[in-house]
Order: sequence, then structure tokens, then C-alpha cells
Amino acid sequence: MKSGNNSETTLWHPFTYSKDIESVPPIVIDRGSGMYVFDRDGKAYLDAIGSWWVSILGHNHPEITAAVKAQLDRLEHVIMAGFITEPALRLPRLLGTILPPALTRVFYSDDGSTAVEAALKMAIQYWALKGEKRNRFVSFSGAYHGDTLGAMSVGAIPTYHSLFHERFATQLFTDPPYCYRCPVGKEKTTCGAECMDSLEAIMANEGERVAACIFEPMVQGAAGMRVYPSKVLRRVFEICRRYNVLTIADEVAMGFGRTGTMFACNHAEVVPDMMCLAKGLTGGYLPLAVTVVTDNIYREFTGAFPSERIFHHGHTFTGSPLGAAAACAALNVLIRDSLPDGVSDTMRHFREQLQRFDDIEITGDIRSIGMVGAVELVADRVTKSPLDANRRIAFRIARRAVEKGLLIRPLGDVLYFIPAFLITREQIDWMYETAICSIREVLDEEARGS
Ligand SMILES: Cc1ncc(COP(=O)(O)O)c(C=O)c1O
Repeated sequence: MKSGNNSETTLWHPFTYSKDIESVPPIVIDRGSGMYVFDRDGKAYLDAIGSWWVSILGHNHPEITAAVKAQLDRLEHVIMAGFITEPALRLPRLLGTILPPALTRVFYSDDGSTAVEAALKMAIQYWALKGEKRNRFVSFSGAYHGDTLGAMSVGAIPTYHSLFHERFATQLFTDPPYCYRCPVGKEKTTCGAECMDSLEAIMANEGERVAACIFEPMVQGAAGMRVYPSKVLRRVFEICRRYNVLTIADEVAMGFGRTGTMFACNHAEVVPDMMCLAKGLTGGYLPLAVTVVTDNIYREFTGAFPSERIFHHGHTFTGSPLGAAAACAALNVLIRDSLPDGVSDTMRHFREQLQRFDDIEITGDIRSIGMVGAVELVADRVTKSPLDANRRIAFRIARRAVEKGLLIRPLGDVLYFIPAFLITREQIDWMYETAICSIREVLDEEARGS
């Protein structure tokens, strides 16, 4: 094979239609500071979604930047087998100061998907080591747990997962905890977490074969920031406990204060057997993730050669000292400034002002928790019928907003905001005003038939 000089070699962008890129090329971002990123011409964009939900402390945070630079001057990487680094040792201790006390063992991986893969494998092997063959998982309809095959098998968003479910392992799915379109016809006032009757039914039929139930606590992120009540989560734990099934809380998106408590599970005062953390872990600086488990789980994996009591799993960059240094610095800021408590007033403003979207005729649902806010757009408020997908209304609104310097990206027909904690009240007001203005412009365009 000859090495080429192919000037055509170029990028393949994730989650993006190639034709969209041809009509509007991606904006090249040059630098970031706090709530903003700046393109090569110096134009500022207020980052309303924390750049794929990772930037919890803002861009180019001086303390995290300094920690990564200092680590870079010492060591970039070392094999995490027989060796370890000081930041990689320090991070579990720091996590221990904010995690529920029962979660004592920290396993490193690279990102949300790999943290989930590790959890799924641990669950299967845990039961195998106890002499039980449990190889199925339960998750919620509407779930998103990542894009690797195992994580996709427990995902349930048709656009992303259907093709692969048909060809690979498929798991068991409950009804979606989707309050705006409640699968069991309840209202907020009458809800008794009946959507999880479906979990009870699955467990009654398959409980003995189920290794674990995996869920996004309090908010189904990729499904459209669907916030659900803590009673649903409590019921999940109650059912899983009764059927002796492990619980895996995927806090990849909602951990580290996004929902107003350090972990989303805290809303229901429940402690899972395993917790997956990524995204905000490093303040959005570097790919690093952890799967945190109880002593009960870890104990099954403690043994000596040649027993099976070993977890044969690990990635090349596992325990990256650079990632760990970033994570330690990010956690120090989070803990020192007692976020998210420290910004509870801002969160209140963020949630109150979100109601402004109610004046828009295509607003179907407004939902929020902590620093997560979403507006679901519909064609008809009364029937809740969806917008004509071919019109790509939310997509066009987001493009308008980006032109105005507001970085948002919709999930289907859902516009959402999940900014860093340092956002100010004025920035929140501008963010909503700009989004509303963008909606109005696109609706005007629609009315004119253009
Ligand atoms: C709840 C949840 N789990 C897992 C993932 C996958 O994380 P990653 O994209 O870092 O692999 C995501 C990503 O959005 C997520 O929201």
C-alpha cells in the first residue's frame, strides 16, 4: 500500500448530515473564556449547553488549566498496571468526599459510554462470580447510555438504536417516565409512579435473569431533557431491591450538580450499587470517566491467581494523569465553592425565566430542574401533536440562535439549556431573549411560507 498525498482527506462529523455541513460549514472555534467560546474572527458565542453538557465550570477555567499544565510538565501517561500516578490516586479520595459513603471503589475509563460498558460487564461478572447466570438488563424507553454496542443495547431512542437492536443484543425496556406524554395517562397531580408498573411486570417475568437495571436518574437527557419525579426513581429502587437486581445510576450527564444536587440520585435519597460519571468530571477538559461501585460488588472481584476473581477490563488511557489532574482541579472548585448550592439563586432565576417561553404558541411543555431547562415545541398545544419533522423547525431555530451568538443545539423538537454554573442572571435573560427571538423569526418565516 502506497502512502498517499490525498488533499481530499477530511472530517466525518458526528450526529450531522453531510448536506447540512455543505450548506453551513462548522464554525471554527479558536478559544474560550467562562461562558463564551470565540471563533477565528473573534465573534463570541454564549455556550448555553456546556458544549455537549461537559462544561460545568466554564471554558478555560484558570485553576483547571493550571493543573493540566502542571501535570503536562511532569508526565503525560503511564500504564495503569503495576504503576499509578499521584493525580489518579488523589481523585478517588476527592470523589469520596461527595459520593454517598456506600460507593467506595472507583474504576477508571475514558468517557460516558465506556463507564457504562464497564458497569454492564461488572454486573454480569458479579452474578457469575456468585454462581448465578444473569445476563439481561432493564432500562427505560427513551434511555440513552452511549454509543458503544453494550451501551446502545440498553438505549431506547429509535433513531439511534433501532437498527442495532435488530442486529445485536436487545434488552428489556420499561415504559418511558415521560410526564408530558405520560404512558399510563396520569397527570402530575395524580402520578403514583405507575409508569414503573412496567418494571414490576418485567421483574415478575424475568427478574431472576436480570443482572441490573440501568437508568438516567431524574432526567432522560438525550430523549429531550425529560425531567421525571423523584418518586419514580424511588419506586425503581424499591422494585430492584425486592427482586435482588443491581441498580446502575448513569449520572454521566446529570452528575456534579446539574440537577441542583451533587448527584441526581440525591433527589430521591437513593444510593445505587454502581454509578457512572463522566462529562463534567474533568470540567469538560479531557476525556475521563469512572464507574463507582459498592464494597459489596468489589468484594466479589477480590482474589488471587488463578481464580476468576479479576476484572479483565481496561483501556489504554485508563487513569490518565492529565485527565485525573483536570478532574481533581474541577472537583476542588466544585467543592470549595459548594456548587451547586452556591448558585441556587441563579438556578431559581434560570427556572423562573424559562416560563417566558409559555407565550410562544408552539410551546408544548416547559420542564426544568437545577440548571437544566427544556422547551418542547409542538404543532398543537391541545392535542400535543408534534411539529412536521420535514420543516426542521427546532434545527432552524438553533441555527438562527447561533447566528446571533447563542450556542444551542436541539434534541428533536426540544430546545434546551444546560449552561455552566457561572452563568449570570443577565446572561440567562439574554440567552432566553435570543432563543425566543430566533423562534419568532422562524415562525414568521413559516407564516410567509419561505
Ligand atoms: C446519560 C448518558 N450516558 C452516557 C453518555 C455517553 O457519554 P459519552 O458521549 O461521553 O460516551 C451520555 C452522553 O450524552 C449520556 O447523556
